[in-house]
Amino acid sequence: MTPFQDALAIVRDRAGDTPVTLGLILGSGLGHLAHAVSGVAIPYAALPGFPHAAVSGHNPNLVIGDLEGVRVAVFGAREHYYEKGNPAAMRPALEVLKALGAQSLILTNAAGSLRPDIPPGDLMLISDHINFNGLNPLIGEPTDARFVPMTHAHDPALRAALRDSALAEGIDIKDGVYAWYSGPSFETPAEIRMLRLLGADAVGMSTVPEIILARFLGLTCVAISTITNMAAGLSEENISHEHTKAMAPLGAAKLERILRHFLRLHR
Ligand code: HPA
Repeated sequence: MTPFQDALAIVRDRAGDTPVTLGLILGSGLGHLAHAVSGVAIPYAALPGFPHAAVSGHNPNLVIGDLEGVRVAVFGAREHYYEKGNPAAMRPALEVLKALGAQSLILTNAAGSLRPDIPPGDLMLISDHINFNGLNPLIGEPTDARFVPMTHAHDPALRAALRDSALAEGIDIKDGVYAWYSGPSFETPAEIRMLRLLGADAVGMSTVPEIILARFLGLTCVAISTITNMAAGLSEENISHEHTKAMAPLGAAKLERILRHFLRLHR
């Protein structure tokens, strides 16, 4: 059995067979959202193929249960490329999600903003992304399924639904392009100026490889950034992981309201 099949058997054993509708990956400082779900929490450490090294600010549990009447699988932590250099690190976790019956995946992350009109504390609905690293989690995949079209990787219908939910909750959310930069060091001001010229509105160290994997698996995707800082060179504030963790909860409260509204309409 592959790690994903072992993990799936454990998840089914603990959480049952009821199909899950939606997956949710929580970014830095957003891990508390997992506690909003009434259900079964399974530590990643118990799940073969799941990320085992923890990044502080993440909650390494898979929580399966009910949120606003929708059966969801919440991934409280992700493995980033910068941890071990593996862009496909989240593949077994996403394969489990797909096998549980999920159709869609909502991804969240913390990001630095390149736009003065999207300040720290705001949310950005990712309209598209730039795979600036040029790394791909499907390298080595032997089947023709590896040739994944990415034109609508950020699903237009899901984006419209989340935008409507934000509007209904009175939350301002702007569209923007997310650039994936490997980390773990932050960018230089010159790199940020370059990314701006290339069309990026925010920069972060995650999400893009998971979107590629999720599209490969046939999941529809939508992603939201919580802006924790202005990107390097754009403000005087200090950029640090501590700062990211401290700022993420500002956006997290808004994110939770948007998600709850969206789920109430989709149960
Ligand atoms: N750059 C990259 N990743 C980030 C940032 C940033 O400025 N802020 C939060 N995650």
